[in-house]
Amino acid sequence: MGEEPVGVGILGLGTIGTGVAKVLGQNASVITQKLGFPLRLVRVADIDTETERGVDLRGVRFDSDAEGLIEDPGVSIVIELIGGYDVARRLTLRAIERGKHVVTANKALLALHGKEIFDAAAKRGVDVAFEASVGGGIPILRSMREGLAANRIQSLHGIMNGTTNYVLTEMERTGELLDVVVKRAQDLGFAEADPSFDIDGIDAAHKLTLLAAMAFGADLRFEDIPTEGIRGLTPLDFEAAEEFGYRIKLLGIAKLREEEGGERIEARVHPAMIPEASLLAKVDGAMNAIAVHGDAVGPTLFYGAGAGELPTASAVVADTMEIAREIRRGTAGRVAPLSYMPDALRSKPLVDLGELWARSYLVFTVLDRPGVLGHIASALGESGISIESVLQKGQSRSEGSVPIVVLTHPAQELAIQQAIAEIDRLPEVTAGTRLVRIEEDL
Ligand code: HSE
Repeated sequence: MGEEPVGVGILGLGTIGTGVAKVLGQNASVITQKLGFPLRLVRVADIDTETERGVDLRGVRFDSDAEGLIEDPGVSIVIELIGGYDVARRLTLRAIERGKHVVTANKALLALHGKEIFDAAAKRGVDVAFEASVGGGIPILRSMREGLAANRIQSLHGIMNGTTNYVLTEMERTGELLDVVVKRAQDLGFAEADPSFDIDGIDAAHKLTLLAAMAFGADLRFEDIPTEGIRGLTPLDFEAAEEFGYRIKLLGIAKLREEEGGERIEARVHPAMIPEASLLAKVDGAMNAIAVHGDAVGPTLFYGAGAGELPTASAVVADTMEIAREIRRGTAGRVAPLSYMPDALRSKPLVDLGELWARSYLVFTVLDRPGVLGHIASALGESGISIESVLQKGQSRSEGSVPIVVLTHPAQELAIQQAIAEIDRLPEVTAGTRLVRIEEDL
């Protein structure tokens, strides 16, 4: 195979960047056998050129000159792995302007500035590929864009954040508090030093924004997606979930609602109780799983490592190979990055959470006095909410607060929220009521 290589450059030699350099090196021969020509890592730029990363960069120019890498005529594909918004956005747009194709794992950048970046790329006739931004190593975006292209996608849902899934799995296993488990996840290198993007559901909402665009041609604003993280969950919730036959997972959910007046999208990120026998309930640790339902194919499920050096690098290098192939064929810049052609993407209204219809798990925090449960039951009853089960764990010493757990029959969320507001005004209620949605019919 004597063909000339296609040159690539990596911006950002952190965990993923290092993984990409490793995969390009260790799998060079298989990559060449699949492409018919080699991919050559020509340059790497990072502000830190000192730290030893355990990767062989002999023959690769490694410095802190990101602009120089973009300008380098030997670099045809720029792999942006800096993360964050500002610098990544500037360098990505710069690379596009200079006619370079871009591969990125940066879902935050695309969820917020995707339109600007994709428009710039279309105008310049270059590709922006981002498989690694959702589901780490799972080829979920390519599957939606290509394998499921013939379908009208009706819904998708799943576990889109490995850090929170690890934390939830450990809280369930050990009975420990969230903070204790997050600290251990940080010590083990699973969780970021500032884990709020993961823990507060923001990372999953970024991913859901991209998935909803690819699934439904929906141009959603990330900020509009109702998003709730896992901070409020306590060991009691896991105990109760087990008793009721559920497991708790942080889910991203998006559904197409086709109605007389047009299409609306139900999109949300929040912890949910799901039946313990469901496939998703068995997804533990830092793994991800995303289910996609298409009108022709029916249900499909994609499972794999949602984060990590080599799994994420697997997706980045696959994107790089696809673009390299297109460069050689002279067809680069013709793939609609979000599956739908840019002029087919539409802004679609979101369904209000109040419209949801489901069982709810509620935790009331109340003074341990006779009659309190009666007040709660009447407030729920007045809003038309029927109770399925009640649990009171433990007894307070000397009139302290106790949690009362209520599982409701299916009801409209608006009614639940109204009942909660009323109950939280009762004098015996000492802390805000918590709600975890129960998802049985995904
Ligand atoms: N922080 C993400 C997660 C991985 O924990 O799943 C990158 O998307």
